[in-house]
Amino acid sequence: MLLAAVAACCVQDRKARCVELDGAGSEPVVPAVLRTRHGPLRCASGAAPSLVGVITREEMDHARQVVAGVIRPTATYPSASLSEMLGRRLLFKPEHLQRTGSFKIRGAYNFMASLAAGTGQFGRGASEVVAASAGNHAQGVALAASLCGLRSTIFMPEGAPLPKVDATTDYGASILLGGSIVDDCIDRAKAYAAQTGAVFVPPFDHPLVIAGQATVGLEIVDEAPDAEVVLVPTGGGGLLAGIAAAMRASGSKARVIGVEPLRAASMQASLQAGGPVRLSSVSTMADGIAVRSPSQMTLEYAQKYVDEIVTVTEEEITRALLLLVERAKSVVEPAGAVGLAALLAGKVAGTGPALVVLSGGNVDPLLLIKILDYGLSVAGRYMMLRVLLEDRPGALASLSRAVADMHLNVLSVEHHRAGVSLGLDEVQVWMTVETRGHKHGDEIVARLSQAGFTVRRDS
Ligand SMILES: Cc1ncc(COP(=O)(O)O)c(C=O)c1O
Repeated sequence: MLLAAVAACCVQDRKARCVELDGAGSEPVVPAVLRTRHGPLRCASGAAPSLVGVITREEMDHARQVVAGVIRPTATYPSASLSEMLGRRLLFKPEHLQRTGSFKIRGAYNFMASLAAGTGQFGRGASEVVAASAGNHAQGVALAASLCGLRSTIFMPEGAPLPKVDATTDYGASILLGGSIVDDCIDRAKAYAAQTGAVFVPPFDHPLVIAGQATVGLEIVDEAPDAEVVLVPTGGGGLLAGIAAAMRASGSKARVIGVEPLRAASMQASLQAGGPVRLSSVSTMADGIAVRSPSQMTLEYAQKYVDEIVTVTEEEITRALLLLVERAKSVVEPAGAVGLAALLAGKVAGTGPALVVLSGGNVDPLLLIKILDYGLSVAGRYMMLRVLLEDRPGALASLSRAVADMHLNVLSVEHHRAGVSLGLDEVQVWMTVETRGHKHGDEIVARLSQAGFTVRRDS
């Protein structure tokens, strides 16, 4: 039964211990890998936690039928070149190619189909839904509502990226911009629901939403039965809860790992604390999973079904994004790339087949440019040099010759004469050149030094 009654010991215990942490600091607040399912997480009595709103296999199968006519098939496929790089078979579940650009349509549609039909907890007569989101949930709700013949109103933060605001409008929603973060929008959306009778659609904290996301897990079991490990981007934990529950219900032995940004690791902090932890701030480019706190419900799924939580740094995310574009020809948003980031960073044990859920692809092109630029720099694909030259005719030409002799492509050159650190007879040249990696960069600096140049590497 949805929203089944709960045996209470752990729930009460953990609610009482809800704490607030700062998740946005530069130092890890939690370890990079946290083992859960086989670890020490137990409530005070020692009993295994019981689940709030547990979903049954039948409810997952029903959700699969409900979303079948609406979603786009996203068949799992292997990546040969990244498999070779990782030394293990790598498979992708490409939900960035899903309708609305993320898996979110699954949970939103399963929720709204039930609402429109007046089944389960819902009475008949709902005509409007309301939600709060900066992006993917907004688009999923907007399209699902239109398909179910419901009006939708979405509260979005003032800084929400224009392409996401436009896409949500195009799917048929009325947008109300206001507040600086999604949490402000949630308060306003709930107040709107109370005033107007519109039904609030939770982003992750509802069994129908989790059952909708579980359909990804059911497909993974069918499409990649040999997967040894499944990596799931984790924000509020609805996708993780759904996939893990589906895999367990199907008898899969694959390890299920949730992946969070280091600076927004609220699920990991909550698992460690034994109750939902609310981070006082989150700071990550992975906006889709920049969530301050999981819910009691999603936390309990993680405790019961998830094997590990792994955290990744911003640099690790950019590296993954770059490789996805370069090697897999896939434009994925930062939140969607954290699973691959964890694998590339060597944070996932084992050598058997690994399946990465690419959960979304809605990235602002301007952000993508910045990310790729940063990713290229992190990967040592270009380098900025500062070279001190004598202020005499031909000095710049000699540097150009040395660079040309090394067959380097120059991306930019700046020539400076003024500056307190420069002598009267000196000039400084800032030159950015393309490189083939960090080792190549080191070789270039060494060769220029050997040729007599005073050279410093800036990036
Ligand atoms: C691209 C992407 N990946 C993963 C998630 C995480 O989903 P959940 O909040 O259910 O953990 C989200 C949530 O919005 C998302 O947009």
